[in-house]
Order: sequence, then C-alpha cells, then structure tokens
Amino acid sequence: MTYPIDIRPRRNRRTAALRACMQETQLHAHNLVLPAFVMEGEHTAVDIPSMPGCQRLSIDLLVQKAREAADLGVSGIALFPYLTDDLKDSCAKESVNPDGLFQRAIRAIKQNVPELLVITDVAMDPYSSDGHDGFVEDGEIINDTTLPILAAMAVAQAKAGADIVAPSDMMDGRVAVIREALDADGFTTVGICSYCVKYASAFYGPFRDALDSAPRGGDKKTYQMDPANKREAFREVELDEAEGADWIMVKPGLPYLDVMSQVREQTALPIAAYHVSGEYAMLCAASEKGWIDYDACLLESLIGFRRAGADIIFTYGALDAARLLQN
Ligand code: PBG
Repeated sequence: MTYPIDIRPRRNRRTAALRACMQETQLHAHNLVLPAFVMEGEHTAVDIPSMPGCQRLSIDLLVQKAREAADLGVSGIALFPYLTDDLKDSCAKESVNPDGLFQRAIRAIKQNVPELLVITDVAMDPYSSDGHDGFVEDGEIINDTTLPILAAMAVAQAKAGADIVAPSDMMDGRVAVIREALDADGFTTVGICSYCVKYASAFYGPFRDALDSAPRGGDKKTYQMDPANKREAFREVELDEAEGADWIMVKPGLPYLDVMSQVREQTALPIAAYHVSGEYAMLCAASEKGWIDYDACLLESLIGFRRAGADIIFTYGALDAARLLQN
C-alpha cells in the first residue's frame, strides 16, 4: 500500500495565520469561573498551602478579587464558605442565617461587582459537624432528610442575591426540590448549576484543606460516583435535566474528559467543567519544581475542556488564564 505524498496535513500548520484560522476550539476569559473561599474577618487572607496562589479571603478582600475577575472578563465567581467548628452542627443550621458569612459575602459582591455572576455552593459539608454533604444518622447519609435542608439553603442564597445556585452534594432528587423551593419564593430567574456527574475523587484533597471540610468519618462513596463508571453519568444527566437543571457539571475535569465529551452529545444544556483543586495543585507543584511551564500547561488543560465540550470552566487559574489570554 502506498500513500500519496501530496496529502500533507502540515500545510495547514505552516504559519501562525494558517494555524489561527484552522483552530477548531477557542478559549475566552468569559468561559471561566473563579472558585473562591470566604472567611470571617477584615483585610484577612490566609494561604492554603496545598493550593499555591489561593487564599481564604475576608469579605472585603473577596470583593477586590471579584472586581479583578470581572475586569479581566471572567464570567463568574463560585463561592465556598470557611466556617469555624463552633458554627458547625449536624443540620447545617448556619447555612440559612441571612446575616451569616456566606449570605453577607453574596450581598457584598452583588452590590460592588453586579456584572459578575455569583454562583453559590449548595451542600452541607462546610456547615456540617460531620463533614458530609448530607445529613448523617448512625454513620449513614440520609438522602430525604437532606433535601429540605438543601432547598432552604438555596433559597437563603437566592435571597442574598445569588444568580446561580450550585448543588454539589449528589443527593438524589435535589434539583427538583431546589427548583420548587426557589419558584415558590418567587426566584424563578435564579438558575441551577447541578454538579450532576460528580465522582468520588481523591483530587478534592486540597479543597478540603481549604475549607477544613473533610468527612470526619467514612468517605463520600455512597453519594459521589465511582470513577470506574460512565453509563451511570448518563442516568444522572437524564434525571437532572428532567428535574430542571440549567447547567450540567462534570467533575473533576482532566481524568473525565471522555465522560464530558459523551455528555456533550447527550444534552443540549450548557456543560460546566470543574478543574478541581488537586488538578490545580499538580500544575503548581510541578511548575514550582521547574518540571513544567505553569502558564502553558494551564491554557492547554483549559482548551482540553473546551474541546471535550465544556462551555464554562471553573478553575483556580481563572485570573492567570484570563491575563494570559489578553496577551
Ligand atoms: C463539596 C465540594 C467539593 C468540591 C466542591 N464542592 C469537595 C467534595 O465533594 O468533597 C471540590 C472542589 C475542588 O476540589 O476544587 N460539596
């Protein structure tokens, strides 16, 4: 068998102009969302050792960070609260406090940086004395006891001004109860970003350091998905779509791009991808050692998400990437 030598794919790669117009996928700052950790205090920023460049921020500094994100063209900020143990209990009571840290943070950002989407985490873990996303009884995570707690949390966040609530807990049926509760309170325009396909991943380690939210007992395998499974993802997507999700999230990112690209074929909903803490930490650690180029590897990771079908990417490197994209 002979191949005709006149077929030369390299012709289309010869110059920068050719490469630019041949590019199949684009990455823009507006595809990005910055996840951020908020804590009590003033002018306070606490480094997270396993996530270089990321800090827990008091509300005043969080607002500055949000302003920076908006000015760079980043679309949104995904908020997570850091609470001290005295505010944690088995029912996540603090999560509905209208004057609690999280609700104040939402209001402050919407007041000062109104154009930035505020995406709020709905799950019990930052507020839970058990460190689980759902209500725990005798070591078990009780699905249906958790649902009204999540619904109330979502409504409290909507009241504070959240644009999108993002249940990350993986309880069955939560998108439906959250939609119903939001609508009943008149929040028909608040969207739901469902962490729909969320795996029980070891890549969440640094995030749990950041929030001090690791499970105090057991693991999350009875609610988050088995990394070995893909068909199960399609069931989750089907259900969350039927329950009224506005965005479908696949998480973590890079080890699950096969799942993402198949979910892209399955749903017409926008897909969000989460480039999670452990993925970010790997980039930072390897580049600190001088083994990889952080900037180039970050952009390459993010374009990979876009190629796999993600519309929106949550990444701790959002501001770095947005700056790089300006040049
Ligand atoms: C918990 C939650 C987690 C993340 C987002 N929301 C951790 C977990 O499920 O244990 C992980 C994000 C990251 O690792 O960057 N509701």
